[in-house]
Amino acid sequence: MGGCEQRYGVEIAESVNAGDENRNRYEITPVHHLRFITRYLKKSRINKNDRIFDVGCGKGAMLWYFITEIGFKEASGLERSDKLCSICRSNIEKWDINAKVINGDASEFEDYDEYNYFYLYNPFDATIMRKFICCLEQSISRRPRTTTILYVCSLFKGIFEEHGWKSVSEYKKNIFHTKESTILCKEVQEIQ
Ligand SMILES: C[S@@+](CC[C@H](N)C(=O)[O-])C[C@H]1O[C@@H](n2cnc3c(N)ncnc32)[C@H](O)[C@@H]1O
Repeated sequence: MGGCEQRYGVEIAESVNAGDENRNRYEITPVHHLRFITRYLKKSRINKNDRIFDVGCGKGAMLWYFITEIGFKEASGLERSDKLCSICRSNIEKWDINAKVINGDASEFEDYDEYNYFYLYNPFDATIMRKFICCLEQSISRRPRTTTILYVCSLFKGIFEEHGWKSVSEYKKNIFHTKESTILCKEVQEIQ
């Protein structure tokens, strides 16, 4: 993301406090985790049918990254904070990319059917994570498809595993589990 702020006149780097106990503050994805995610996605050969969704997209830096650096044709994000949403909208306009941000809460949002990649960078606590997984599972039952979660700072990967998700790649910065990133996958046969 180096140089992105100056080049486009956007604001992505400054952290923002969320202001409630279930919700984590806005921080941009750390660069060493970004390298891990990038390596995985480059190997995955993303094609024009793949769709990615950033759950808790903050100022939208990853939406920009997924489109310009990885090759997704479009990217969408969900963000609960009104203030961050409006910064994200303004950034998307300046970047002039095929991205959208939805102002909503991941514990209630149900419109995940068109996406097969999900990105999470430590957005919320275990209670909200369980509700999000429930909404995602319902989406996969409605529209069966193989789905991949790119989970940075994967504190609650155990909850995904309880729901049958398999960890397919892991990155550990050091021995502390808060520094882990995990790619989780659920293979589901699509109905033709
Ligand atoms: C650590 S930041 C990650 C931002 C972004 N994904 C990135 O990597 O640049 C977590 C974001 O999740 C948002 N968030 C927290 N709880 C949420 C919820 N229940 N629904 C949607 N967004 C939420 C926060 O406001 C914050 O912007």
